[in-house]
Amino acid sequence: MGFLYSTLMIILSIETSCDETAVSLVEATGDFPHATYRILGNALFSQIDIHREYGGVFPAVAKREHAKTLVPMLERALGEAGFLLSTDNQLSGETVETLNTILYREPGLGEALVGFFEKHKRPSIDLIAVTAGPGLEPTLWVGINFARALAHFWNIPVVPVNHMEGHILSSIFAGDRVPEIQFPAVALLVSGGHTELDLMEQWGTYTCMGETRDDAVGEAFDKVARMLGLPYPGGPEVGARAKLAREKSLPPFAELPRPMLDSGNLDFSFSGLKTAVRYAVAERVLTEDETLAICRDFEDAVTEVLLAKSKRAVDEHGAKTLIVGGGVSANTRLREVFADVFSREYPELTLYLPPKNLSTDNSVMIALAGHMRVKDALSPEAFASVVANGNLSLSV
Ligand code: KG4
Ligand code: ZN
Repeated sequence: MGFLYSTLMIILSIETSCDETAVSLVEATGDFPHATYRILGNALFSQIDIHREYGGVFPAVAKREHAKTLVPMLERALGEAGFLLSTDNQLSGETVETLNTILYREPGLGEALVGFFEKHKRPSIDLIAVTAGPGLEPTLWVGINFARALAHFWNIPVVPVNHMEGHILSSIFAGDRVPEIQFPAVALLVSGGHTELDLMEQWGTYTCMGETRDDAVGEAFDKVARMLGLPYPGGPEVGARAKLAREKSLPPFAELPRPMLDSGNLDFSFSGLKTAVRYAVAERVLTEDETLAICRDFEDAVTEVLLAKSKRAVDEHGAKTLIVGGGVSANTRLREVFADVFSREYPELTLYLPPKNLSTDNSVMIALAGHMRVKDALSPEAFASVVANGNLSLSV
């Protein structure tokens, strides 16, 4: 590959798989999994306010926002790290053309990046880590092409990262290191696009044991919120109301199903649950308390199913570790129930939940996953043939 790695690496990571534009600078000392990490810079712009108007994420809008925001996020992350050093570079016409060619599908980004290169010195970074999938392909491409342009100009290798592996590392991350985990481990991944249970027998290998047959759990939260007239993203909105319902001890509003609870396998289905909520609230105006109650009923149903399937997966494989990751792992109820049940019923098992600020999409997790996969890093030329894969899977 032609690149030599020292034990100290500075990693620039980029995440654009959905509606968060994130760039981080992370220092890694030592080899994975025994490395220590320092987050030198962490810049994240959430497009939520833009998408809220539409009630969800529109890929074309998200793509445009990523193109607009990546250079400012790069400047912010490098600035926080003290890596933003001014200079006065005159780029050759040929270089400008090459950069614009790499970025020709991302309006405005080539121009912004050329402006950046003219003003700033090459920072001493060793590796770029970028999300290659899964996610929205148009938005993944923005990050990939941005990484290509940076790698080309700075002559730095790039490692393509699986976003879901990022979520797993986010959950385990202990602030400055990745703790030694005991295998076999089970990972429950719950986000806007995924609901799956994976078996990990060692670092970096996954067997998908079960997944949703229709909606992802985060998607169900978002759709239920929309039915109730609550803004996007629905997870935190529904969660906050469910909490109030419990505090007020409100009676159940609806008897909701626990889909596939007794299906005998590890698959999920949330579309029937969502439809049950739709029927329960159809053609009536809910009182405020009724809205709180249905949020709680829905959250209880989801939590019960996720818990039962996770226990089943742990039992089937004698797992010593359970990792819960993805945006829905920010849910307070899920966190409390999992922490309580697993500490009581599985005292030998270690449960990992991400810190709340690393539960939803971020680029620190992409740096960690990139470091874990450093052996897969590609030269700028080889990276040029990497494509966005919206359905990239963890299991091979
Ligand atoms: O991982 P993530 O940030 O993006 C994807 O990779 O999809 O997950 C976003 C999902 C959204 O569906 C959002 O509603 C949900 O995570 N979410 C939550 C909470 N915070 C975010 N769901 C339930 N409770 C929350 N507190
Ligand atoms: Zn995610």
